Amino acid sequence: GVAVGRRVSSRRKWGRVIDVLKELEEGCDTPVGRLKQVVDAVAVEMHAGLASEGGSKLRMLLTFVDNLPSGREKGTFYALDLGGTYFRVLRVQLGGQRSSILSHDVERQPIPEHLMTGRTKDLFDFIASVFKQFVEREESGSGYPLDRRRDLGFTFSFPVKQTSVSSGILMKWTKGFAIEDMVGKEVVACLQEAFTRNGLDVRVAALVNDTVGTLALGHYHDADTVAAVIIGTGTNACYVERTDAIIKCQGLLTTSGGMVVNMEWGNFWSSHLPRTSYDVDLDADSPNPNDQGFEKMISGMYLGEIVRRVILRMTLESDIFGPVSSKTPLMAAMHEDDSPDLTEVERILRDILEVRDVPLKVRKLAVNVCDVVTRRAARLAAAGIVGILKKIGRDGSGGIVSGRSRPDTRMRRTVVAIEGGLYTNYGMFREYLNEAVVEILGEEVAQHVILRETEDGSGIGAALLAASNSSRNVDTVQ
Ligand code: GLC
Repeated sequence: GVAVGRRVSSRRKWGRVIDVLKELEEGCDTPVGRLKQVVDAVAVEMHAGLASEGGSKLRMLLTFVDNLPSGREKGTFYALDLGGTYFRVLRVQLGGQRSSILSHDVERQPIPEHLMTGRTKDLFDFIASVFKQFVEREESGSGYPLDRRRDLGFTFSFPVKQTSVSSGILMKWTKGFAIEDMVGKEVVACLQEAFTRNGLDVRVAALVNDTVGTLALGHYHDADTVAAVIIGTGTNACYVERTDAIIKCQGLLTTSGGMVVNMEWGNFWSSHLPRTSYDVDLDADSPNPNDQGFEKMISGMYLGEIVRRVILRMTLESDIFGPVSSKTPLMAAMHEDDSPDLTEVERILRDILEVRDVPLKVRKLAVNVCDVVTRRAARLAAAGIVGILKKIGRDGSGGIVSGRSRPDTRMRRTVVAIEGGLYTNYGMFREYLNEAVVEILGEEVAQHVILRETEDGSGIGAALLAASNSSRNVDTVQ
């Protein structure tokens, strides 16, 4: 009797759950027409952000990187990479010829959570002490005294108003960091003070965003690299702009005639973005409401949270999942479970959500939710990339190489370096992104656009930039 009674009501509940899914699918829909509107909006906002300070939600920050590494950099350089889930220390040995990174050692550590919301001094003391131990280990037996000077590139992946290639002020925190006493402070000074407290003599020769480090390494390997994108805990992009197009900074002169611009695209916003009630609620509950809207639809810090909210909503409509919580890596694992009966999905729902005996159709539903949320994220990121290409005239609108009628307007080979856990570790995300780029550009143009994954680029690139900006290297080059 009980079973029959439950079956009737559970059918009705299932219907409500399917309604939630349908509504989500509609809300997250990204047909190519809409993606093209996003592309246009990105290009328009880029112009506006370059025209005047505060002219757009895209801040279009100057980096003072006007020459990307030449390949002649030589010597041993260190890098610190802060800004994602992990904190990295690197030691890079450069051989003095293009593509001759002789070796690089990396150490990766999760950032203790209390340090992300504590005080400046505690965070930087932690960084300095990890660096010190790393240096001691790396150089043990080399006879090089610990208090002797070392050159370092510092990857600090937050919005920074740069005053030179090696200095700048923190504008605001993103990605869940919230150390109030640091906003408005000189980033390098905070680090230098911590080094001094730890008895280290380090020269910070470059202060860079992770996108800029990635661009530097991408360009070191392939000179056609014009932009770099990060899709990890957060998301952002940078690219090489002509100085005469940076109107808000009249009279900017560089030897190359160009400069790398950090877009801070995580804060991009447009009415064309497909926003759902889950996005609105997530934003309202975040530590930075009305901020980083694009990032909250795309990056790893938020995707799992969107899925959790959808599943929670489904649970409120029914009782198919029981109590829930979810994280993005688990989402990737569920989404990519290709076993016929979705055993991995079952295991995750059981272990993490403490839900038992989840029927197959409910497991499939969970995969469906992951799919909708990830597909939207990946396709929006693709639109962002094409927006940059459009701004710099590499979207094929000037004609393409194979068009015999216009031999003079060639679509040049264009490489975009990409890095970040979501792109590298989440196969479905990567596939959707790559696919959408082709869909927006058309196959003929897309042939000339290469998305290239770099590994540890944000750190190695910072070491490369430290090398090209260190006086030591100028000596060896001259
Ligand atoms: C956030 C930061 C940005 C960084 C990105 C990727 O959007 O504001 O500076 O590049 O995350 O780490």
